Amino acid sequence: MSGDNMELTINQIKQLKGETAVPGDKSISHRAVMLGALARGTTRVENFLTGEDCLSTVRCFRALGVPVEGPDNGCLTIQGVGLNGLQEPVTILDAGNSGTTTRLMLGILAGQSFCSIITGDASLSRRPMARVTTPLAGMGAKFIGRDNNNLLPLAIRGGQLKPLNYQSPVASAQVKSAILLAGLFAQGETSVTEPTISRDHTERMLKSFGADIKQEGTTVTIKGRPELKGRQVVVPGDISSAAFLMVAAAILPGSEVTIRGVGVNPTRDGLLEVLKNMGGQVELLNLRDQCGEPVADIRVKGSDLQGTEISGNLIPRLIDEIPIIAVAAACARGTTVIRDAAELKVKESNRLATVAGELTKLGAAVEELPDGLIIKGGKPLTGAVVDSHGDHRIAMAMAVAGLAARGRTVIKEAQCIPVSFPGFADALKSLAVE
Ligand code: S3P
Repeated sequence: MSGDNMELTINQIKQLKGETAVPGDKSISHRAVMLGALARGTTRVENFLTGEDCLSTVRCFRALGVPVEGPDNGCLTIQGVGLNGLQEPVTILDAGNSGTTTRLMLGILAGQSFCSIITGDASLSRRPMARVTTPLAGMGAKFIGRDNNNLLPLAIRGGQLKPLNYQSPVASAQVKSAILLAGLFAQGETSVTEPTISRDHTERMLKSFGADIKQEGTTVTIKGRPELKGRQVVVPGDISSAAFLMVAAAILPGSEVTIRGVGVNPTRDGLLEVLKNMGGQVELLNLRDQCGEPVADIRVKGSDLQGTEISGNLIPRLIDEIPIIAVAAACARGTTVIRDAAELKVKESNRLATVAGELTKLGAAVEELPDGLIIKGGKPLTGAVVDSHGDHRIAMAMAVAGLAARGRTVIKEAQCIPVSFPGFADALKSLAVE
């Protein structure tokens, strides 16, 4: 295995063996910076993900006048400025490649009585933002942006917000979180109802910072204008990064890998269920609570996997894992059908198209559906040159497929991997048995 600026080369290996940890959870790292900034007092974040996306969030808050020290050895210290303490930025806020930074920041900026402008890279500038600007405009914020306030760059003039009861058409934690964060600035109760529950890290963390927030079914309600208090946050390992190592171990016979300290929040653990349904051997060890989030060590052994069906309420619980699940499916016996996943078309790339296209180059039988994929497993994979399309999760999914493919696989545009998993190639190298 060798990597340079643009390409990652992966050779077929026998198996993966050993123990490792993965970097901190991306969703939780973003939220720790945001709530730390809006709280009073100091917030210390340990095991903060120093991936590009979370660094974009840090840069945005520094531009809004929040003192943030670090990251230093995975630790970040934020001197919170309180709900009314953000300052009008003199520069354009740059969210880089990060949808979470943009959509959650839009919720926060909607509550500020100043003007700000946010933008991002080419991929982010194609992704839909009306899903948050429309409800936030309903609360009283004003936006100016392309395609009827749907596309970056977006200018925001916030201010006095009214509370809102919002029925979201999509199960999206970014939409839910944007509205809940805006709800912090509104007088009264703001609620969001989702079709299916999405990841609940915002709710858990808001509660631990002192907000009055409650959940009933798929509705979350927050009381505006709380006094948030800074605290220590120890970020769990990211299950969405662990997923690549888990699937690599599951598809390579004789493998046994333990990943220490991974977040296993029930709104994020769909991959564990899917691997078990496919006949995988997955064990959770030392299940414990860490700052309000469940954490465990995950042990995966190589198994003879079989195809499965994935749809409905399960989809939001594994939305970021579908590219790597497709790799597991390509290496399994029988057919895997994934439905109800049209949201994948508006991720960092159109992940239905990019997964189908790139896995096919390795010899897999993948058919793209309007809302999913059909993968006929068991065709032997052969190394080839594949493209990440600038999407970190596509790059890593193809790298794992490359471990099982005969010969050599070259992943082009692999420089996007540190968006979520700095040290990915080294983690594979440390576990690989050639
Ligand atoms: C995220 C929510 C999900 C997920 C993304 C991170 C978050 O996006 O795909 O990687 O941190 O809230 P959606 O809200 O668009 O489903």
